[in-house]
Amino acid sequence: MKQSMKRRKRAVAVATVAFLVFLTGCATFSVDTAERVADTTGQAGEAASSGLSASLRYNAEFKDVYPNEYRSFIEGALLMEEDGTAHSHANLRNRVEQDPQLLEVGAPCLSCKTAEFNELYATYGREVFTLPYAQVTGEVGDYFSCLTCHASGIPAEGADASLVTYTTYASEFLTTVDPQTAACGQCHNATCDYPRKLLPLQENARLEDFNPYRYGSDADALRRAVREDGMTMYPDEELGITVDYLGHPDIELFQGSQHQEQGLTCVSCHMPYETNEQGEQYRTHNASGSPLNNEQAMRYCLSCHASLGVGSTNEMRQFVRARQSALGAQEAEVLDGLDRLKARIVEAEAGGATDPATLRQAKEYYADASYYYSFQHAGADIPGGKVAHASARMYRYLEQSLSLIKEANALLQA
Ligand code: HEC
Ligand code: HEC
Ligand code: HEC
Ligand code: HEC
Repeated sequence: MKQSMKRRKRAVAVATVAFLVFLTGCATFSVDTAERVADTTGQAGEAASSGLSASLRYNAEFKDVYPNEYRSFIEGALLMEEDGTAHSHANLRNRVEQDPQLLEVGAPCLSCKTAEFNELYATYGREVFTLPYAQVTGEVGDYFSCLTCHASGIPAEGADASLVTYTTYASEFLTTVDPQTAACGQCHNATCDYPRKLLPLQENARLEDFNPYRYGSDADALRRAVREDGMTMYPDEELGITVDYLGHPDIELFQGSQHQEQGLTCVSCHMPYETNEQGEQYRTHNASGSPLNNEQAMRYCLSCHASLGVGSTNEMRQFVRARQSALGAQEAEVLDGLDRLKARIVEAEAGGATDPATLRQAKEYYADASYYYSFQHAGADIPGGKVAHASARMYRYLEQSLSLIKEANALLQA
């Protein structure tokens, strides 16, 4: 069983809402998912009997050809976590369709869930971004299929991101990204809301017309683009302002990180090579599992971290947990600072003695500090959870937040 993660969610309302949109991305829709569980053998059978849907067309087609990759992929659907859900790629359809909180995102939800959205897009064109979920879900066989990351349909050719939305509007950015990282980043990115929010608004717009990465992929560059494009502003009702928020910028934070510059990809840590009973090597395809629960992943870390002072795979786990806690402690300081600052602004505003320009400035600092915090947190389940992705950069963003909070407090003091 997967070590249960503490799904502790910080009560930043904005963050929670946007995080849910990623996780689920779609409206509630009641379907008999059991019907969709075509595969009744082995692991997948177990998945089926526990009510988890897994696979259909393409996945089933590849089952016998690539049994190791197939089995490891399906395995993820069996790993129930503390919150009673398998947060696995193989269980994604259930996650989407059985979550009572799901939002009214409609068909575009599928644009970063399944390669079969490409067919929907080919059929309906941009109209698909306005259709209700129920209208198209019946046309989708596989949700998370082999084709998602093996666009050619020939897995042995390697990783190749296939989702038409991201690979179109982010095509320029993707030329700078390793294909293995792109395979993950086509969903694990900060900008997946773009097409569904912007396409319906602009009569003749096409996916090709957007490029949120035109100024770069760091927090400031992305914010500049999304502000120009009118994206992702969330209201903060207490302060009467809007706050920028970009959910889970995984690929963006990772590009240019120390690990990335040393040649690592998402796949290096999340899909390490394993050996089956026949002694054959294969890449585990349970990419949504935690590297900390994977002995091969931990051994891989040691190829560098041994010389950085880590002695064993167990110590490696402890090292990561310790680094998560350290970053998490820094996050807590920022969150506490944000809470206090907000209270102070509200109080100052109610008091009526502070001039409006000062209040405006303090609110702006608050919004900026909050943005940097959420950008580096990247929707992680636990505080500091993604520290292994871009540690140095995350600390820098938190430092920026802290100094903005300090400036705002100084302003209000004066
Ligand atoms: C989330 C993305 C993703 C999905 C989905 C996916 N793969 Fe892969 N697969 C990869 C990556 C990344 C590699 C490594 C490619 C490389 O070496 O460049 C890979 C490699 C492979 C390889 C070659 C292994 C090797 O060592 O050369 C096979 C075979 C394979 N996948 C089969 C499958 C099958 C079958 C499915 C569906 C059950 C599937 N993949 C689904 C990402 C994915
Ligand atoms: C088709 C879109 C898509 C692709 C491609 C994709 N993911 Fe995911 N991934 C998701 C979604 C959506 C979730 C959230 C699932 C949930 O919470 O039920 C997720 C969850 C995860 C999780 C966390 C699971 C948890 O317990 O919270 C990890 C780790 C992960 N993905 C890693 C990867 C890696 C590594 C790759 C590339 C090999 C990848 N993903 C490719 C959509 C994708
Ligand atoms: C250096 C190794 C490494 C690399 C490279 C890496 N990860 Fe991770 N990732 C981890 C570790 C370690 C965790 C923490 C797992 C845990 O807390 O159980 C993690 C966690 C995650 C999570 C779940 C976090 C949460 O709290 O919900 C996702 C999603 C994820 N990684 C996706 C990616 C993607 C996408 C990439 C590439 C852009 C990537 N990772 C690159 C090691 C790595
Ligand atoms: C190619 C070599 C290499 C590999 C492989 C590698 N790392 Fe690293 N890692 C580094 C270097 C270098 C640093 C930066 C060290 C420093 O800042 O002291 C680093 C930093 C880190 C940090 C941040 C430490 C901090 O101070 O906050 C974490 C966490 C981490 N690695 C986890 C992992 C995990 C988990 C894996 C395997 C899944 C892994 N690394 C694999 C080279 C590597």
